Amino acid sequence: MKALLRDVLRRPHLHRPTDSVRLALSQLQAFEAVLNRHQRSFQRCSSLLDFGCGDGRLTRHLFRVAPQTRIAGCDVSAEAVATCQRRHPSGLFVKNAPTPPLLFSDAQFDLIYSYSVFTHFSESNHKAWLRELSRVLQPGGVMVHTVHSHVYVRRARMFSHDWIVKNKPSRYLEGFLQSTPDYYYVMNDAALPEYGLTVISKEYLVATWPQETGLTLLEYDEAAIEAYPEGCQDIVILEKAR
Ligand SMILES: C[S@@+](CC[C@H](N)C(=O)[O-])C[C@H]1O[C@@H](n2cnc3c(N)ncnc32)[C@H](O)[C@@H]1O
Repeated sequence: MKALLRDVLRRPHLHRPTDSVRLALSQLQAFEAVLNRHQRSFQRCSSLLDFGCGDGRLTRHLFRVAPQTRIAGCDVSAEAVATCQRRHPSGLFVKNAPTPPLLFSDAQFDLIYSYSVFTHFSESNHKAWLRELSRVLQPGGVMVHTVHSHVYVRRARMFSHDWIVKNKPSRYLEGFLQSTPDYYYVMNDAALPEYGLTVISKEYLVATWPQETGLTLLEYDEAAIEAYPEGCQDIVILEKAR
């Protein structure tokens, strides 16, 4: 104990979370807050899927936060999946194609979450993924996803204007603001036709997602999760009937 204290005092930077760890933990807490309002928790589920897990930026914390939970992740990036497999041998990480299906069985997970994945799909592909994720969700289970809606557009323009100008096609936000469609999708890279930039209006989502999935929309939490650099994303939670 004394040695640990000495170490902390001598090298405080080693024991302070980095900005990216703080962001990841704050985002997981935002998911947890929504889950708790519906009597769920990362710790109380038996089997969870991080859809579009990337290199495990969020997933990796869950091995410590929810040690009893079986943890799986999937992503289209073979490299990202390989990184997760190497770092977390106790998890189940698999690569999937840009369009469904997943290799998982029906009703395999009681919690599915995604961070900033439905912010990238075309309208038809997003519907196909909603149906596919509903298939692998257990009855009584929930899925929680983040989306970009109109509030994202407003916040991004307020807080990240320079970044948008530099990194995003200007037609992305301008087009959206001019026409304010319900489902706005622009391709970012012609080589990745199913990995563009998506904004979904709240009204469209509330009407479409329950219809598409057969699930019940428990809550739509606007601007609920901190996002960098765009400011925020919304969180949506849906439940599958028992
Ligand atoms: C903005 S990143 C977020 C990554 C991760 N969720 C995180 O929070 O760090 C979007 C991720 O979605 C993945 N992705 C894109 N299309 C996908 C698809 N059809 N199925 C699974 N993952 C996909 C990308 O490879 C990328 O890792």
